[in-house]
Parts: sequence; C-alpha cells; structure tokens
Amino acid sequence: MKTILELISTDVKNAFSKCNYSSQYGNVSLSNRPDLCQFQCNGAMIASKTYKKAPIIIANEVVNVLNKCSHIETVSCVMPGFINITLTDKFIINYLNDISKSNNLGCMQIGSDKTIIIDYGGPNVAKPLHIGHLRSAIIGESIKIMARFLGYNVLGDVHLGDWGLQIGLIMAELERRYPDLVYFNSNYTQDYPCEPPFDITELEEIYPSASNFSKTNSLFLKKAKKVTYDFQNGHRGYRALWKHILNVSIADLKKNYSNLNVYFDLWNKESDIQDYIPDVIKSLKDNGLAYISQGALVVDVKEDRDTREMPPCILVKSDGATLYSTTDISTIAERVETYNPDEIIYVVDKRQELHFEQVFRCAKKGKLVPQHTKLTFLGFGTMNGKDGKPFKTRDGGVMRLENLISQVCDEVYNKIKTNKSISATEAKDISNKVGISALKYGDLSNQIAKDYIFDPERFTSFEGNTGPYIQYTAVRIKSILNKFEETNCSYETNNISLQVPKSNSESNLMLTLTQVNDVITDSFIKYCPNKICQYIYDLSNDFNKFYHENRILTEENSLQQLSWIKLLMITEEVLTTCLDLIGIETPDKM
Ligand code: ARG
Repeated sequence: MKTILELISTDVKNAFSKCNYSSQYGNVSLSNRPDLCQFQCNGAMIASKTYKKAPIIIANEVVNVLNKCSHIETVSCVMPGFINITLTDKFIINYLNDISKSNNLGCMQIGSDKTIIIDYGGPNVAKPLHIGHLRSAIIGESIKIMARFLGYNVLGDVHLGDWGLQIGLIMAELERRYPDLVYFNSNYTQDYPCEPPFDITELEEIYPSASNFSKTNSLFLKKAKKVTYDFQNGHRGYRALWKHILNVSIADLKKNYSNLNVYFDLWNKESDIQDYIPDVIKSLKDNGLAYISQGALVVDVKEDRDTREMPPCILVKSDGATLYSTTDISTIAERVETYNPDEIIYVVDKRQELHFEQVFRCAKKGKLVPQHTKLTFLGFGTMNGKDGKPFKTRDGGVMRLENLISQVCDEVYNKIKTNKSISATEAKDISNKVGISALKYGDLSNQIAKDYIFDPERFTSFEGNTGPYIQYTAVRIKSILNKFEETNCSYETNNISLQVPKSNSESNLMLTLTQVNDVITDSFIKYCPNKICQYIYDLSNDFNKFYHENRILTEENSLQQLSWIKLLMITEEVLTTCLDLIGIETPDKM
C-alpha cells in the first residue's frame, strides 16, 4: 500500500504538471507547523530558480489546481511560497481502515526475492559476554526483525570467534592447571572423553586469568601462541579440547542471548571458514592483486579519492599466520557461494570501521562478491558511564552483560514491587521483561553510530522517552480494551466504522497512526531503529493526550464509543508491532 505521503505527493506532482512545471517539485513532507496544516510542499521555492518566477506565483497556480481535489480539506500558500495542505477526515479515516485491514500495517514488501545476511553478536568462545556485545546483539536483532517484516529473506549469523589466540590462551592455561589431562599427552591414541573437563564457571574464569598472566609472563604467551598454531594445524588433542570449549560455551551463549530475546539463524564460526582460505588466497594471487611485501602477503586497497590513510590489507603474516581480515574476506566468499545474498550487513563496534573498509575493498577488487551484493558496515558507538567514559564496573573492570541486565531489572523491580495487585513472582517476571526492554529501548533510541550514556534510572523511568513508558501505554490500551470486552461480549470488530474526530487530540492521533508504514520502511532503509523509537514515543504521547481528554468506557453514544474502541485497537496494533520490530515484548500487566 502506498504511504500517505506518496499519495499526496502524487496529487501535488500532478498539479505541478498541470501548471506546466516539472512534477519533481511536488514532493510533500509532514508539516513543520502542525498548528497550521498537516502537510507541506516546498517545491515552489526550488522551482522558482528554474522557471525564473516568484515562488508565491507558482505556489498559487498549484494551489488553484489542488483546490479541486476532493480529499483535500484545505490548501493554501504562504510566503515565500510554501504550500500548506490538510486532508479531509474522511480520507484519513479510510486510510486508517486500509492500514488496519492490511497484513503488515500497509508496508510494501520491498524485500520479497531479496536475501540479506546480518552478521551480528560476534561473541568469542569462552569469553564472558560483556556490554560491548550488547549493542551488536540488540541493534542486529532489530534490523533483522524489520527486514523480515518487509519481506526480506534474512539470515542472522552470530559469527562466533573461535579461532584466535584466545583459544590458545585457554588451552595453555588448562595445561598449566591440569597437565595430566589426556588432551596434552601426545602418545594418547584412544578416543577422547565425551565429558568436558570443566564447566562454564571455570571456563569463564580461565580466559581472563590466562590473558592477564600472558601480559606479565612472556614464556606463557609464547606457549599460548604455539598452542594456537598447533591447534590451527590440526593437533588432535587440542582439537578435541576445543570441541569441549565450543560446546560448553555455545550452550551458555544461547542461554544469554535468549534472555535478551535475541535469536540467531546461523551459528557459524570463524573456524568453519578456514577451509575457504586457500582458495581465496589463490584467486587473489592469480588475478595479480595479492603480492609479498616485507614477507607478508598483502593486497593494496588504497584509492585515489582516499583522504585518510588506507594501509594494504594483510592476508598472511610473514610467520605464515592468517588474520582476522583473512577470515572475514573468506567469509564473504563463503556467504556468496552458499546464499548469494543481495546484502551483507555487519553490526560491529565502529572502531572496526577501517578493518571492514579494507575487507570490503579487497573482496570487491578480487571479485569475490558480485556487483549486486551490497556490503554494509553498521558501526555502533560506545556505551558510556555517567562520566562519559566507557562503562566500567566499580573496580574499573569490564562489566559482564549478565550483571548489567540484573542491575536494570532490579531497578524496575524496586519500582513495581509496591503495586499490591501483583504477586512477588509476577513482579519478578514483569521486571525482567520491562528491564530488558528498558535496556533495549535506551540503546535503540539513540543513533547507532553515536556513543550514549548508560543510565539505568532514566532508562527504567515510566515517564519520558523510555521503553517502560511506551510499554505502559500499550498495556493501558490493552486493559481498556479488555474491560470493554468484558461488558460488551457481542460486538463485531470488523463492522466498526471510525467516526470523524471530535477533538484535536483525536485527529492528531489518527494522523500519527497513518505514518506507521512510512516510518517502518524508512527506519529499515536507513538502518535507524531510533526512528521507530521516536515514532512510538510521539504516538504514545498523542494517545495519552487523547485518553486523558475522553472517557472512553463510559461514553454513552455507542457509535462514538465503538469508533474509539476501534481507534484504540489500531493504536495498540501499531504500538505492539513497532515494539516487536525493535525486539521488545509487551507484557499484559505492569
Ligand atoms: N568477535 C569479534 C570481536 O569480538 C566481532 C566479530 C564481528 N564480525 C565479523 N565478521 N568480524 O571483536
């Protein structure tokens, strides 16, 4: 279904044409002055340069044509040449009816026949998830849900880091602690045990302690590097131990991500890509791009238009080791071969921008991706503490994701435990749902690339631009609808017709609702979940104003009451769908 802006733009474009101006000047946007009109067109000001005429004259001519349009209530021009438009209530009501009848709030299925891979999450095996992983998970999940809503075939891939030095560090540390384990015995030829020699608690403690130890003990670091090398080259015992590390760690990661309501379609690992590397390297050598420089195999990716430094992309180091970039370039080749995607979106810390620019350029130069495949780097900013520095624990360490989540959920629990109508278990359950949402909303309501301040108090507030405020609005609507249903069991929702709005607050609510398909599509195309957040915040404000001005449940005119009920149903659907799109559940109570 066309968006309401597209529909009016068509009218205005036709009017420009009728007056012998190019139709390109007829684009309409939402009004900057909602007190004067609903929509505006600024095209006359631009056209005046081409046609060497005063904008107000052009605007006047166009307005004269638009005046005859039956669904325009008022149209006028204002100096120096703005065209102000307000639609008839009937048109808005019909449009809202169409939205409520359509399957997906009137959004065009712009993604049908297209495949997108989203590379997000990006955790590393055996390292606890920390707040750095939070943003990737929640932004990626939201982009994934939006794309799916718009008809794309989407695959979310966690791209698990399981191949680097961290594995060697963990195994070297295990060997130091338990030298007698069979995995370290080179004479051992039998099958290895099925049970892992550690649990997740120990595993999570091992990595930080090994990493710290390696910083002060160069012998240990050397050993870890050797272990990494042997492991990568197929050492039997290390490979068996690595399988245990993977299993224990993946089970735990899945649990953590599901607490956040984040679900990946693919659990591919860096290790899965290693078989692709030789072919990729060969092809980059064959087409003359890869060459030896100071012992390393590199590809130049610098372009004339570069204004910043663009070092060559290193594929193989002088000691024969491949790198993060080698894996990422080969992953592109693998994804193209397996899924032939139209786009690959990477949701990664923006500090990795240069790495991805090099990788993308190398993949394109080497023709590892077809022309039509778009490679998108969606770099996100840092989550900071109130001091404006990257968020840390009290003792200056990296905050574990679990602890961060419980901090926010506890904050919500303290707020709702005073509500006597909710049992303690229910309160716990609600505070988990609301807490996670508060965290997600606090994140997604910012532009992706910007740093933001983690502020549990503000995030969990029931007032202002927060997740709980919006959830609370949705819950309020649900509860009015439930109450209405309890006393009116036999009404037919399909037959309810919306009545002409009786107040400004009601017509504002209706107008905001008509924007929904535009906002959703735009948020996806521009990768801006924050646009959805802003929209549902505005919508919640519009709704609450309307709600405070009207007594819906006690309204005596039943046509009027039913019309309001219908308006509430649409508002509820729009709110819950938009919350869904940013990965937020709506509880039944709160
Ligand atoms: N594991 C990486 C890290 O912790 C992030 C992976 C991002 N994705 C990718 N394809 N490189 O920094």
